[in-house]
Amino acid sequence: MISLNTFFKNKNLLESSLFKIIDDICNGSKIVNEVLLNGNPENFKSENVKNIQNEDVQKLDLIANNVFLEYFKNNLDIHGILSEENEKIIEGNSFGKYLIAMDPLDGSSNISVNIPVGSIFSIFQKKNMSVDLCEDDFLIKGKDQECAAYVLYGTSTILIIAFNNEVHGFTLNLKENDFFLTFPDLKIPKEGNIFSINEGNINSIDTEIFNYVEHCKELSSDGKRTHTGRFIGSLVADFHRNMMKGGIFIYPKTSDKPNGQLRLIYECNPIALIAEFSGSKSSDGNTSILEKKPKSIHERTAFITGSTKMVDKLLSFYKNE
Ligand code: AHG
Ligand code: MN
Ligand code: MN
Repeated sequence: MISLNTFFKNKNLLESSLFKIIDDICNGSKIVNEVLLNGNPENFKSENVKNIQNEDVQKLDLIANNVFLEYFKNNLDIHGILSEENEKIIEGNSFGKYLIAMDPLDGSSNISVNIPVGSIFSIFQKKNMSVDLCEDDFLIKGKDQECAAYVLYGTSTILIIAFNNEVHGFTLNLKENDFFLTFPDLKIPKEGNIFSINEGNINSIDTEIFNYVEHCKELSSDGKRTHTGRFIGSLVADFHRNMMKGGIFIYPKTSDKPNGQLRLIYECNPIALIAEFSGSKSSDGNTSILEKKPKSIHERTAFITGSTKMVDKLLSFYKNE
C-alpha cells in the first residue's frame, strides 16, 4: 500500500510547499473525522446563528473551520485564507506564496441526519507578492488554481487531490491513522446515466435545464428508464458518486437564488478543477466555470459538471433555443 507521504516522495514533492498544505488538509480532516465518529450529539446541533450567506450555521461548520484555520495559520507558506464561514479574508504569513480558499464543511444540512459531508479546498499562488493581502488576490479564474482537493466523510473517509493534470484518491486507514492511495489516476466516465439536481427547484430554473431533465426521464423504446436520479444535498458526495459511476451534477439559477446556490471560489472552482483533470468539464450554462472571473469573494454561480457527454448534451439544449 502506498501512503500519501510515499506517493509525494516518489514524485520528489515531499519537501514542497504544496505537500505541506496537503499534509495540513490531511491532519485537519483526521480531526474532523474523529469528531464525526465520536458522535457527541452536542456537536451535531445548530448554532442558531446565520453566516454571511444568511444560512444556518451548525456547530460542526465552526469546528471544521477552526480545525483547518489553525493548521493553515501555522503554515508559513500560506499568505491568506478565504473560508465560507468568515466574512473577511484571514491573514497568514506575509512571506507565504500560497492562498487557500475553503468550504470547511460541505453539506451541513445533512449533519443532523447522519448523511455524508465533505470539506473542499482550492489552492493557488498569490499573484502579486509586492502588495499587501487583499480580497482581489482571491478573485482569480479557476484555471489558475494549482491544486484542488476534497475530503468526503462517507462510508470511509477519502481524500481526492487534483494537481499537475492528474487526480488521485486516498482512503484514511483508521488503524494506521494515515491516508493510502486507493484510486490512482481517476478519470470520470465519458458517459453516464445519473442525473443529480434538486427537483424542488424544477419550476424556477432555465427552460434548457428543465428540458434536459425531461430528456433524462424519457423511456427507452422498450419502456425502461434511461437515467436514474440521485441527489444527496452534499456537493462533495454528489460529485464524487458521479465521478466514480458516470453522471451529471446540476445546480442552476433559481427564482429563490438568481445567482445559483453554490459558491464559485471555494465550492465550484475546486470541483471544476478536479473534473477537468479527470477528463471532464464544468459550465454555468454559458461559460466554463474555470474561465469565470469572480467579482467578490463569496460570489455564487450556477454549476453544471460531470460526464463530458452528459454535460455536452445539456449544453446542446442551450444552443437549440
Ligand atoms: P454548505 O453546507 O457548505 O452550505 O453547502 C451546501 C450546498 C451543497 O453541498 C449542496 O449541493 C447544496 O448546497 C444543496 O442545496 P439545496 O438544499 O438547495 O438542494
Ligand atoms: Mn458547501
Ligand atoms: Mn459549508
